[in-house]
Amino acid sequence: MIKRKKVMIVFGTRPEAIKMAPVIQALRQKESILCQVIVTAQHREMLDQVLQLFKIDPDFDLNLMKQGQTLTEITTRALSGLHDIFQRERPDLVLVHGDTTTTFAAALAAFYAQIAVGHVEAGLRTGNKYSPYPEEMNRKLASALTDFHFAPTETAKRNLEQEGVPPERIIVTGNTVIDALLATVNPEFSFAGSELQTIFEQRERFRMILVTTHRRENLGEPMRQIYQALKSTLETYPDTYIIFPVHKNPNVRKVVTEVLGSHPRVHLIEPLEYEPFVNLMARAHLILTDSGGIQEEAPSLGKPVLVVRDTTERPEAVAAGTVSLVGTEYERVFSELQNLLGDEKAYQKMTMASNPYGDGSAALRITEIIDEN
Ligand code: UD1
Ligand code: UDP
Repeated sequence: MIKRKKVMIVFGTRPEAIKMAPVIQALRQKESILCQVIVTAQHREMLDQVLQLFKIDPDFDLNLMKQGQTLTEITTRALSGLHDIFQRERPDLVLVHGDTTTTFAAALAAFYAQIAVGHVEAGLRTGNKYSPYPEEMNRKLASALTDFHFAPTETAKRNLEQEGVPPERIIVTGNTVIDALLATVNPEFSFAGSELQTIFEQRERFRMILVTTHRRENLGEPMRQIYQALKSTLETYPDTYIIFPVHKNPNVRKVVTEVLGSHPRVHLIEPLEYEPFVNLMARAHLILTDSGGIQEEAPSLGKPVLVVRDTTERPEAVAAGTVSLVGTEYERVFSELQNLLGDEKAYQKMTMASNPYGDGSAALRITEIIDEN
């Protein structure tokens, strides 16, 4: 019997799970490959929502999340948990995704065990060590440990080449987020019976601003200023309202509740499952976020996105005109929101659907490369 190639996929947070789900599905179609899943569970509830939706039953679960966890705690707990599994299981390849602390720790653990590493969504860069923090360093460190760099775009490939990665080690695949998105967006999706349906009925003919924030470098004062700009916007435009699925991080929750919690046109809700969330994006008038994944998804839905960050590693949609980088200061965020809500031309210019991140077949390309090597 021919030996199957053993591939272990490691992830820990919501966005990694969403973006690795198509890869797991594609690898599992290959008879020549045995694909196993390890979750560090750096996130718990937000990860489990995605595992359920995509019917992923992990082979190993480190269950490491702690309330208010530090970067050091995540790194050390993931590293030692993965060490034991890698020594016992000896996979041929470890696949990691993106730029979380799980990503970096898993790449390092695989390197210590002298196991080859494949990095999905490789090559994103801002060039600023502390923005986003710690993601820019996590992905650079992961690149240094990687054998197969699956770059989503040509820009990402160039970033890697500039750092000296041999071109034959870089494969441009598109971003698997588009695979997941296309499989999930559904114009027929029904919110019937949900809390959201009640909100829609109450807010008929109002314009919806969909908001998410969670970046570590935005915690505290930057988030406070962003929320104050949103509050001023609601006052200026009485026909607008906010739906805000609040990240589970207690440091995010505290400030959101303080600034926006009592406003009658702000709906603070729990993190949504992926399916209702992407279908909610499709209904939004505009999106304000510091999320990486949402910056990639919204352009293919033709939704304008204001990115409340100082840097972005995703310049493609900014160039296409559907995403605008607006920083985190009150004045600028408020004025950019006014520009979009008050100027129909400016708004229309940002609604052109564009798809710089992929065609929905990234996972298949990744699977073929793994199978051939
Ligand atoms: C992490 C990643 C970030 C990614 C983000 C996606 C790191 C350092 N950060 O940031 O790159 O963009 O996930 O959302 O890798 N919590 C829960 N339940 C959950 C998830 C989180 O209670 O399901 C709370 C816990 O108190 C936890 C805190 O949120 O300690 C922060 O979680 P953590 O994974 O450390 O950081 P994120 O900000 O979520
Ligand atoms: N998302 C979700 N439910 C929500 C908010 C976001 O399923 O309530 C999805 C979103 O569509 C995207 C991903 O989660 O695919 C982004 O995750 P997050 O913003 O937490 O992390 P980032 O992409 O910034 O690393």
